[in-house]
Amino acid sequence: MSLALELVSTPIGEWSGECLLAVSAAGPEWRLPEPLATWDRTRWQGLLQEAIQETQFSAKAQSVCGIRVPGEIRKVILVGLGENPTLETLRRSLGNGLRQANALKAKQVGILLPEAFQDAAGIRAVSEACHLTAHQDTRFKSPTPDNPQDKRFWVEQVTVIGIPATPPLITALHQGQEIAAGVILARELVNAPANIVTPVTLAETARELAHTYGFEVEILGQAECEALGMGAFLGVARASDLPPQFIHLTYKPQGDCRGKVALIGKGLTFDSGGLNIKTDTRSIAMMKTDMGGAGAVLGTARAIAALGLPWEVHFIVAATENMISGRALHPGDILTASNGKTIEINNTDAEGRLTLADALVFAEKLEVDAIVDLATLTGACVVALGGEIAGLFTPDERLAAELQQASQSSGEKIWRLPLEESYSEGLNSLVADLKNTGPREGGAITAALFLKHFVQKTPWAHIDIAAPVWSEREGGYSSKGATGYGVRLLCDWLLSRAGQTA
Ligand code: BES
Ligand code: MN
Ligand code: ZN
Repeated sequence: MSLALELVSTPIGEWSGECLLAVSAAGPEWRLPEPLATWDRTRWQGLLQEAIQETQFSAKAQSVCGIRVPGEIRKVILVGLGENPTLETLRRSLGNGLRQANALKAKQVGILLPEAFQDAAGIRAVSEACHLTAHQDTRFKSPTPDNPQDKRFWVEQVTVIGIPATPPLITALHQGQEIAAGVILARELVNAPANIVTPVTLAETARELAHTYGFEVEILGQAECEALGMGAFLGVARASDLPPQFIHLTYKPQGDCRGKVALIGKGLTFDSGGLNIKTDTRSIAMMKTDMGGAGAVLGTARAIAALGLPWEVHFIVAATENMISGRALHPGDILTASNGKTIEINNTDAEGRLTLADALVFAEKLEVDAIVDLATLTGACVVALGGEIAGLFTPDERLAAELQQASQSSGEKIWRLPLEESYSEGLNSLVADLKNTGPREGGAITAALFLKHFVQKTPWAHIDIAAPVWSEREGGYSSKGATGYGVRLLCDWLLSRAGQTA
């Protein structure tokens, strides 16, 4: 991580540094906070007030006003939070403010936070936002003569001013950084194309995480999956020239262990659609992102290892590609999953649910207290909820409430959709126990109902992340491309289950 972040107790009146970023909430009559108002009169010749008037800055959410001033502090950036700001407003606004600091090529930035956010939750959000905004994925770009290190982010050091570094705040800073590192791992896995992130390299990444953080790791190849009867997963893998890899990482806490959970991520490193090939050029080109669930799960593993949770956590990814060849699934083929259910493949492009079926059966055998799966499962969920919101499906009220709470605190949006039992009819097959695809209408729901056939009694939630896995918009703490969606949601879920956050 390239950004250094610290808290200093130095009062603002005594602070001097290159760039001051003052975060402030809007009120009925917003005014420039002290000591900036005085400094503007005594040091800056009223330049700041002038800029405020010119840009009509009134601390609206995510608004930014930045200027160059004379003196030791050379740049001043005002960042608005709007009225009644949440932690997510803080993260986004701070992201915009840091982008402005970057545009002004500031190396050191001091942040002035409103009192409401000077607690552990606020500091963790500041930490997440700073580290995530600073992340620029330039791995595949060559350096140029005028940018030899391909440097795009100039801010190197961020100091939160006037806040003593007490142990809980240091922990919050650290948690934010570890969670951001998990998000960045997920982003980089998703951004990388299918010739770089393959089932084999995903398994490699899992092995590296195990090595670095002391997880147990189990990678099942073709033969081992066959032995377990994973006919659904292996059916999808059939046409690929690359070997399928069933990844299972286990995190065990050092001390107190309060229970077990399993996190499953869809791991299609490329989804061509199979013989029901994706004919739309734009959608097939996006299908390197079809391992976004796997990215989120491995990113979460990276984060929680460093956070030290009192839970045993299993991370599961059935990794493969959905390709075409002489060995490809034919539409109409019948596969048998590891719980013995037979599936008629009426559409080879509904492959994610086939891989998840065997992963769910595997997870349930581990006798965990809860299973959560994340999957870029359906275009229908994108149509239903738009580009930024994931679909949440669960028959379990407690899980629903916990995940909705984690969505609130993390700012990663989810919306619960119904597991409407009457729609199950759409999956009835003439020849097998069920078909893998229902009608077009309610496609995200029938996909979730399909998964439900592979969970018997464990509390389970399915999160369809087809939309938020990727963003075409740059702003706040996120850049264009992979978002790393899911890591913060899962971390907050696990942390609050553990009673480690408010
Ligand atoms: N990976 C896709 C879903 C997807 C679509 C992810 C758009 C991200 C963006 C999934 O495997 C798929 O192809 N789903 C089909 C299901 C259909 C055949 C029932 C879909 O959504 O069209
Ligand atoms: Mn597909
Ligand atoms: Zn897919």
